[in-house]
Amino acid sequence: MIGRINHIGIATPDVEKEAENWAQLYGAIDAEPAFDLPEQGVRVKFVNLPNSQLELISPLTPQSPIAKFLEKNPKGGQHHICFEVDDIIQARNAMVERGAKVLGDGNPRIGAHGVPVIFVHPVNSGGVLVELMQQPKGH
Ligand code: CO
Repeated sequence: MIGRINHIGIATPDVEKEAENWAQLYGAIDAEPAFDLPEQGVRVKFVNLPNSQLELISPLTPQSPIAKFLEKNPKGGQHHICFEVDDIIQARNAMVERGAKVLGDGNPRIGAHGVPVIFVHPVNSGGVLVELMQQPKGH
């Protein structure tokens, strides 16, 4: 079974501007420095909340999946929800057995938190792109 919500992914043309918006509008001022994740074609900035995080994501290249998302949603929008799992390989295998579509080649990739993740196609989850993320050991 999936565990706690780790973060909500929000696509935006500019992670710094969007972080500023969340700070001013909602008082969510605990933002981490932005960083690039070239393997996934994205720039990421985390905003820490009491029980979770926002993951603000902007495209690094025109080929980025986030660039395609922003073509359809130019001002940005909710992109994915990330849940924690104990074991990413077990979770991947369970998804495949249950007939869900795991994105990419099906192998976990290292995500923005430095731990392996997979993405499950929105068609399997009421139109919501779901990220499953392995919890770091000792968490
Ligand atoms: Co994410």
